[in-house]
Amino acid sequence: MAYKYLLLEKEDGIGILYINRPEAMNALNTDVLKELGQAAADVAADDEIKALIITGAGDKAFVAGADIKEMSALTATEGREFGITGGWAFRQIEKLEKAVIAAINGFALGGGCELAMACDIRLASDKAKFGQPEVGLGITPGFGGTQRLPRLVGEGRAMELILSANVINAEEAMRIGLVNHVYPVESLMDEAKKLAKKIISNAPLAVKFSKAAINKGIQTDIDTAMSIEADLFGICFATEDQKAGMGAFLAKEKAVFKGK
Ligand code: CAA
Repeated sequence: MAYKYLLLEKEDGIGILYINRPEAMNALNTDVLKELGQAAADVAADDEIKALIITGAGDKAFVAGADIKEMSALTATEGREFGITGGWAFRQIEKLEKAVIAAINGFALGGGCELAMACDIRLASDKAKFGQPEVGLGITPGFGGTQRLPRLVGEGRAMELILSANVINAEEAMRIGLVNHVYPVESLMDEAKKLAKKIISNAPLAVKFSKAAINKGIQTDIDTAMSIEADLFGICFATEDQKAGMGAFLAKEKAVFKGK
């Protein structure tokens, strides 16, 4: 579908979703958030898209946060609704049964850092900057920052980042595990596409089940989590892809996967 604030391109099985509001540093207002949730559904339904890259339009920002202009006039009830809308949109991305890579090309502050954290893998340009500056605006992070940041970098580092509102550069973000790799800005998209291509060369159902096992398992106790893994591992043996993958290994050939 057509979007006002997003651009969705397709290239060799990879979807590239641009947050496209460069005049406001790609800030997330309610309309952008609703479009993001819709885009997740569109990507889920599009068989031509096997993996998704999310990035920011323009050369300055990935996303500089939730829209401060819109938030400035909200009541407590409206603030809660705004948080729920953002949380919903990011969960749609997180729950996509396809790999999602954030290519962080500039500022990823507040809701921008939270959007990156809702993606499966984060790659940053050497120009990227990260932070949760909300407490400096008189609010808490509201699109999952208080929940995903400690899961990703540990409680102590999340506390420091959120309570201080410090902004960190890409190298520091990599050091603490907030991003996986840092690339020169010129090669960021090529590296993101290279990684997406590598992921989609693997068995699609195994990739989907692995993502589900990680996302579900991390939220629960280890015994339940191991049982989730065993169930998904078992289902793999009922797929054609498992026969193709293991058959190709034994025949010393390259596997061809059908996603069945
Ligand atoms: N909301 C609305 N508009 C924003 C914005 C935001 N989060 N971030 C930037 N903009 C707008 C600016 O108002 C400005 O608009 P005008 O040209 O109309 O004045 C335009 O984008 C360009 O921004 P700057 O002139 O500020 O650009 P800069 O290069 O000097 O600074 C920046 C860039 C450091 C990212 C700075 O814009 C900034 O600090 N932005 C706000 C970052 C922030 O606090 N984000 C957290 C928001 S709260 C949140 O996200 C809550 C949550 O968890 C859900």
